[in-house]
Parts: sequence; structure tokens; C-alpha cells
Amino acid sequence: MCAKQVKKPGEVPTTGHEWDGIREYDNPMPRWWLWTFYLTIIWSVAYMIFYPAWPLVSSATQGMWGTQPAGDTRLAVAEEIKRFDDANAPIKAKLVATELNAIAADPELEGYAKSAGAAVFKTWCAQCHGAGAAGVQNLGYPNLLDDDWLWGGDMESIHLTITHGIRNTDDADARYSEMPKFGVDGLLEKPQIEEVVEHVLALSGQEHDATKAAAGATVFADNCASCHMEDGSGDRSQGAPKLSDAVWLYGGSREAITESVTYARFGVMPNWNTRLSEDEIRAVAVYVHGLGGGE
Ligand code: HEC
Ligand code: HEC
Repeated sequence: MCAKQVKKPGEVPTTGHEWDGIREYDNPMPRWWLWTFYLTIIWSVAYMIFYPAWPLVSSATQGMWGTQPAGDTRLAVAEEIKRFDDANAPIKAKLVATELNAIAADPELEGYAKSAGAAVFKTWCAQCHGAGAAGVQNLGYPNLLDDDWLWGGDMESIHLTITHGIRNTDDADARYSEMPKFGVDGLLEKPQIEEVVEHVLALSGQEHDATKAAAGATVFADNCASCHMEDGSGDRSQGAPKLSDAVWLYGGSREAITESVTYARFGVMPNWNTRLSEDEIRAVAVYVHGLGGGE
């Protein structure tokens, strides 16, 4: 049913569109709305003229006010950073030029290195070694506060470890060694593993089965002493930890030692020469060396 539409005076006209008998009124926009709309267009054009607005490939249009620090906080921050970098440039250059073992002899240089190194440590090292550098117990992240070093605790060794990292695949000069997987690769029988574990417990002064430990001494001499040394004192040239003390990377319990011997561990540290500048590496090396265990 479709009654003929007759427009009466005062009635709102329709747009003439009709869908299944439904017609659309042709109401004008409210004045206030229309003018607000025009104002936003004018505002946006003015904004584009005065402020950074359009993104470009690697920057953005600057606008008439954009290049003044007051109008561009990012630019102001960049200038501030540059000012600090410029101020620190001479001491950074000196840090890089000074022989590693001579840094400590210059109090001003050492002071700068320690505070810059502490900042580097917080940002890049704390997630593994802990904010206080005490490491993470039994997860393989060594404590850097003590004098128990895997790879060496003098300035040169620490600097080398940080620069190239340990057992990573990104740096051909990374420190490298690999303990055999005695259990999973079938190099030792289960009873032999039990015996050698008792021997390691004995070496580290823990409660152990003396009979098994005595048999384990032979297994140790044949399979382990080449890296950990006959007396379990370890070998820094291979990063083989000392087994005759109470300091453990992965734990000193019977279970943890059995796991170390069965599966081996293979702790990895990234190399930092691609992420940090030489002055930053030296600074953090001075910081770590100064934590208490430095040699
Ligand atoms: C992704 C974790 C990780 C990060 C990040 C990390 N390390 Fe390590 N680091 C290790 C592991 C794991 C070892 C022990 C490797 C091994 O078993 O030989 C290690 C060992 C070391 C050693 C050798 C300790 C010794 O006893 O010889 C030093 C020094 C060291 N890290 C310093 C740093 C510094 C400085 C940073 C920051 C620039 C850093 N590490 C960042 C995981 C990390
Ligand atoms: C080729 C050298 C090598 C040989 C051989 C070797 N180890 Fe190791 N061992 C290492 C290294 C390197 C580590 C450090 C852990 C890692 O791989 O990250 C280690 C770690 C360990 C740990 C863990 C120490 C800790 O602080 O948690 C134990 C326990 C251990 N070895 C026992 C043995 C025993 C027992 C044998 C002989 C059956 C043996 N290892 C043979 C190199 C060796």
C-alpha cells in the first residue's frame, strides 16, 4: 500500500529516495554543528602549517614552529643528550686509550668508569646476574661479587669475557668449552655416574658414601680431571668450575650434580661488542672488577 505523498506547507521535504515505502527526510544540519565542523577544518590546516604533522619516511614535516626547541620537546631532549655526550667525550676517549690495568691508578677515570659501568650493568646485565650482581642461585648465572671465577677475575679476563661472551654463536672469539654429556651420550654407565657423583660430594666436603666415592675417584681421574683437575680445583682456561668448594653454578646437591654429569650444562652469555661501545665495555669491566672479587 503506497499513499501518494503530498507536501504540505511547513512539512519537511524528503530526499526522494525510497526503500520499500520508507522515505528519508531531508533535514538540514543544525547551524551550530555545521560551523563547528568548518572550524575544525580551519584548525587542522593551521595545525599542519605550524606544527610537525605529516609523517615522512624517516622523519616528519616540521611546521613553522616545529624546529624551535619550545615547539619540539624531542629535539630539546636530543640536544640535551648531545650536550652530556660532548661533555663526557674526553673522559670516554681517555678510558678507551688507557691500558686496562692502569685505569685504577687514575682516580678520576676510575670514578667515571665505575658510575658509568653501574648504569650499563643495570641496563644490560642485571636481568641475568641480578641487580646486585650476586647471580641467580643454581640456574647457571654466576655470582660476580666473589673471588670464585670461571674464566678469570683480572681486568683483562673480565674485559675479554664481556667483549666476546661465552659459548654464543654470534662471536667466533667467544670463550668456548663443552663438557661431555656423560649420561645421555652413554659415555659412563649409571653406576659409574653414581660413583663419580659421590666423589664430587667428597671433594666438596659434603656427606657421601665412602665406598662409592673411592671407586668414583678413578672415574674422575679418567674422565673429569682433564678439565676440573685431579683435586677438583677447576681450570679457568676451559671455564671448568672448581668442584672442591661450596660455590655452585647449578647446585651442589647429589641430584644437581647427577644432572650436571648426565646432561652437561652449556651456559651461554651473549657477546657485548656489537651492543655496547668500547668505553661502555671498559666501564662495566671496571665496575665488575671493583665489586669485590677483582684480581
Ligand atoms: C642472557 C644472560 C646474561 C647476560 C645478559 C649477561 N650475562 Fe654474564 N654470564 C652469563 C652466564 C650464563 C655466564 C656463565 C657462563 C659459563 O657457564 O661459563 C656468565 C658469565 C659472566 C662472567 C664470567 C664470570 C666468571 O666467573 O668468569 C662475567 C665477567 C660476566 N658474565 C659479566 C657480564 C656483564 C658485565 C654483563 C652485562 C654487560 C653480562 N655478564 C650479561 C649470562 C649473562
Ligand atoms: C671438556 C671439559 C670437561 C670435562 C671433561 C668435564 N667437565 Fe664438568 N664442567 C665443564 C664445564 C665447562 C662446566 C661449566 C658448566 C657449563 O657447561 O656451562 C662444567 C660443570 C660441571 C659441574 C657443575 C658445577 C657447578 O658449579 O654447578 C659438575 C658437577 C661437573 N662439571 C662435574 C663433572 C664430572 C663429574 C666430570 C667427569 C665425569 C666432568 N665434569 C667432566 C667442563 C668439563
